Amino acid sequence: MIVGIPTEILGNESRVAATPQTVKRLLKQGFKVVIQSKAGEKADFSDLQFQNAGATIVNDTIDVYNNSAIILKVNEPTLKELEMLQSGTVLLSYLRPAQNQELLQKLAEKNISSIAMDAIPRISRAQKVDVLSSMANISGYRSVIEAAFYFGRFLNGQITAAGKVEPAKVLVIGAGVAGLAAIGAANSLGAIVRAFDTRKEVAEQIQSMGAQFLTVDINEDGATDSGYSKEMSQEFIDAEMALFKAQAAEVDIIITTAQIPGREAPKLILESHVAVMKPGSVIVDLAASSGGNCVLTRDGEIFKTENGVTIIGKINQLAAQSSQLYGNNLCHMLDDMGKAENWNINMEDAIISRAMVTHNGKVNWPPEPLPVNSIKPQVQELSQDKQKENIQNKNKNNGLSMIIKLGCVGLLLLSLGQVAPSEFMQHFTVFVLAVFIGWQVIWNVAHSLHTPLMAVTNAISGIIVVGGLLQTKDNINLSGVLAFIAIFFACINIVGGFFVTQRMLKMFNK
Ligand code: NAI
Repeated sequence: MIVGIPTEILGNESRVAATPQTVKRLLKQGFKVVIQSKAGEKADFSDLQFQNAGATIVNDTIDVYNNSAIILKVNEPTLKELEMLQSGTVLLSYLRPAQNQELLQKLAEKNISSIAMDAIPRISRAQKVDVLSSMANISGYRSVIEAAFYFGRFLNGQITAAGKVEPAKVLVIGAGVAGLAAIGAANSLGAIVRAFDTRKEVAEQIQSMGAQFLTVDINEDGATDSGYSKEMSQEFIDAEMALFKAQAAEVDIIITTAQIPGREAPKLILESHVAVMKPGSVIVDLAASSGGNCVLTRDGEIFKTENGVTIIGKINQLAAQSSQLYGNNLCHMLDDMGKAENWNINMEDAIISRAMVTHNGKVNWPPEPLPVNSIKPQVQELSQDKQKENIQNKNKNNGLSMIIKLGCVGLLLLSLGQVAPSEFMQHFTVFVLAVFIGWQVIWNVAHSLHTPLMAVTNAISGIIVVGGLLQTKDNINLSGVLAFIAIFFACINIVGGFFVTQRMLKMFNK
């Protein structure tokens, strides 16, 4: 089976649907690979690299289309490319099915089985083939780099001999894949990051990435069963715009990523917001191609407003990186379709059936929705009763096993008492009780309290070391050896405790 990769013909497209690395992977999957000469040129992959990876290079586009059973592309086919596609071919590409009904019709008429890589359902199993996520990750990261380039100051705070520098303040609007990547990148560069999203579930993700989660005083949640967000009420949009106006006067960089699938991006930054921003501030609008979150954004342009705010409506695609991730997504998809050996279009599969937008001469769009969150509430409702039952059962079992354990310990002590000297029994009973109570106490400490617990065990280890030192004498006897072992283990605990504590403190250091 031959996989063909033509050169992307749209002028502004620098990505390619395969890289030398993914070519090797395709060959391992049992495919032969045909790639058009110079297909990877704009992404810095030479024909020689593709050839060394095992691909066959052809000069003419038509040779790619004529010879291949599967075509891998980045952009949806143009009319010219559509003509070259052979009946029965499988096409994997961005297709924007919601906006491209006419194209889908034509693909179906030509009996092309086409997979819209941009219409993958949002289920966990599909993450490895989700190109929207992999591309959003790149644009989120790059948005911070672009912003830093146009921003005339450091992003991190510094205290230098020449004076103190305040860290830059970054506001990220929309904390989906791109937003979270932007938060991570801005945070790692030392900026103070704040973020807002209509989906309340992202609050924890935002905080765990080191940003402050901003909220409005309106009880409305943007989360939906599909995993995407919904359009918010006007009241909510007004409230968030008021929040952004206050923030705009304070922050140095705004990165907007708010999108509603299949609709124009919500307008969240108005002229009045830009007007209050400080000269030198930067807005990066990642929603530029779907209308922009800022009313002043010009898609594909970077310009400065009269009050000195740079508005970025295009960012570098990082062609090599995005081709690599896109190529990986495609390889995962071909893996799921059985590779060359067991090639199979399984329309029963939740992912294939929804992404396969034309098949057997028919258009398969819009597909049956696949809820990703709807099972959660049921599980939670069920689990509340179940949880109570489980806790009761657990308590019963715990009680029973405790009685058995105590019984065993008592029996052991009793039988030992028959033979051992009374002085030994006194110490041994204290030892057994100490182990038992210590075990029970530590076992029941909540995970969140393990750090203070570590401090306490360190203190106990200190006492053990002192006790052990007092026991060591000049001559080597049994108590000396035992004291040495006790000191050794206590030291491991102390050193380990300091080591772990230091690592934990480092996590909070900026
Ligand atoms: P997106 O690109 O559709 O939207 C970006 C963000 O903008 C979203 O977080 C959305 O809630 C937010 N937004 C929309 N309207 C807004 C408004 N008026 N104000 C502020 N923010 C607004 O979203 P993306 O990045 O594609 O991801 C959405 C969710 O789907 C994420 O939680 C992500 O983790 C999840 N996801 C799951 C996948 C899977 O399980 N296979 C794959 C990709 C994403």
